[in-house]
Amino acid sequence: MFARYKKNSPAQPANAASPTAPAAAPAQQAAPAHTVIRPLPKAEPAPVDREKKRKERLGEIKLELHKALLDNLNLAALDKASEQELRAEINAIATESLEAQGIVLSREERTQINQDLYDEVRGLGPLEPLLKDESVSDILVNGPQQIFVERGGKLQLTDITFKDERHLLRIIDKIVSAVGRRVDESNPYVDARLEDGSRFNAMVPPVAVDGSLVSIRKFKKDKLAIDDLVRYGAFTEEMAAYLQAAVATRLNIIVSGGTGSGKTTTLNALSSFIANAERILTIEDTAELQLQQTHVGRMESRPANVEGRGAVTQRDCLRNALRMRPDRIIVGETRGEEVIDMLQAMNTGHDGSMTTIHANSARDAASRLENMVAMAGIEMPIKAVRAQIASAVNIIVQASRLQDGSRRMVSITEITGMEGEVISMQEIFRFQRTGLTPDNKIIGHFTASGVRSHFSERFRLWGYDLPASIFEPFNG
Ligand SMILES: Nc1ncnc2c1ncn2[C@@H]1O[C@H](COP(=O)(O)OP(=O)(O)OP(=O)(O)O)[C@@H](O)[C@H]1O
Ligand SMILES: [Mg+2]
Repeated sequence: MFARYKKNSPAQPANAASPTAPAAAPAQQAAPAHTVIRPLPKAEPAPVDREKKRKERLGEIKLELHKALLDNLNLAALDKASEQELRAEINAIATESLEAQGIVLSREERTQINQDLYDEVRGLGPLEPLLKDESVSDILVNGPQQIFVERGGKLQLTDITFKDERHLLRIIDKIVSAVGRRVDESNPYVDARLEDGSRFNAMVPPVAVDGSLVSIRKFKKDKLAIDDLVRYGAFTEEMAAYLQAAVATRLNIIVSGGTGSGKTTTLNALSSFIANAERILTIEDTAELQLQQTHVGRMESRPANVEGRGAVTQRDCLRNALRMRPDRIIVGETRGEEVIDMLQAMNTGHDGSMTTIHANSARDAASRLENMVAMAGIEMPIKAVRAQIASAVNIIVQASRLQDGSRRMVSITEITGMEGEVISMQEIFRFQRTGLTPDNKIIGHFTASGVRSHFSERFRLWGYDLPASIFEPFNG
């Protein structure tokens, strides 16, 4: 657990804390804003030709071997075979087939081919090594010939490909049929969870124009904890201390941000501030959260089956959760009609609840909530809706993936009430950008706005006496 804030030292600039951030270059070195068009960062270059040719040759041989395997392997018995048995079987069939064709391969090539064949039969083919690669956080497939990965916040083109669209479709089919779903022309997109917990989405032609699109958000066994996020420069120790007080004193918190901005990671890290004695219920479309507490009930919504039946929505889960005596409710992402029940829960004793929302700022998050209420078909005057939001939500944390790939908590905003028809907010912390290094890394620091927290008294009464220095602006 994160140590309660004790220090009295002033805030450090963010980039001093981040191992990935560059040494702060003097501001005057940053490229002037109105000069020539900045060269666009390019995807990693394709590997050299010779390597490519060798890969192609290996690919062809592998294809032949794959055919030989399918002809010779007893597929029905395959599911029961142990890894060792299957590997031995693959090796035997491959050896026989290669000998018959008079193909000689190096030892290294043989090992590689055996592994690839194993991955084809048991796993997800070309995606398998990427799934195993710990440094890869996202896998993005744009048709059979283009696979991108994200490593350390940066997108890179890989030299891995599928043989053709049929190969890609076969792998997609393997994934979705394992979870009892189907994807085809009449049902062209699907969400699923891989065995290892990774989140999977696919869309197939003709809706996907240039071949199937696949996105995989890899499941991280060790989710980034508060300390890691502070170390990576996502926010400061002072902000962490503030958030700890906010969570521990049961304020309702929304983490807002764009796609892949770190919302779920932040939510997960914030949950570590919840006391172990509390009963926590989580509701998600794809179970990603990993709570450390003992008393956790996890729910996952379910889409309708092929016949269009059996859907269990997040709203269904949430309504049911309210009858399950929760101390806290955490909804992975609020994006539909469940907003009504979420706001009600936050307003009626289930304080300390948390969720994420897809929005670009605290203000935007509030208006998204408004829209969701309207879309859910609730006829309520706008002022009443806003009043309900204002009393339900206490803090909005804005996560952002900045243009250099770094993820930061760019703002922490408190909702303080209503002023006429408008929800009143005050920003407590923000990330202040000051420039850009020549290699397009963002320079900046975190600062408090200088405004005293609306919840200071609450924090104090609950034993979280935050020193005033936390709320002083950074003037370095
Ligand atoms: N501060 C950070 N530093 C480095 N990596 C981070 C940070 N925050 C999140 N990540 C990584 O970024 C990826 C996306 O994070 P996360 O799943 O939390 O985003 P999200 O906003 O919930 O995405 P989505 O909109 O797809 O649900 C993950 O691989 C996560 O480990
Ligand atoms: Mg998420």
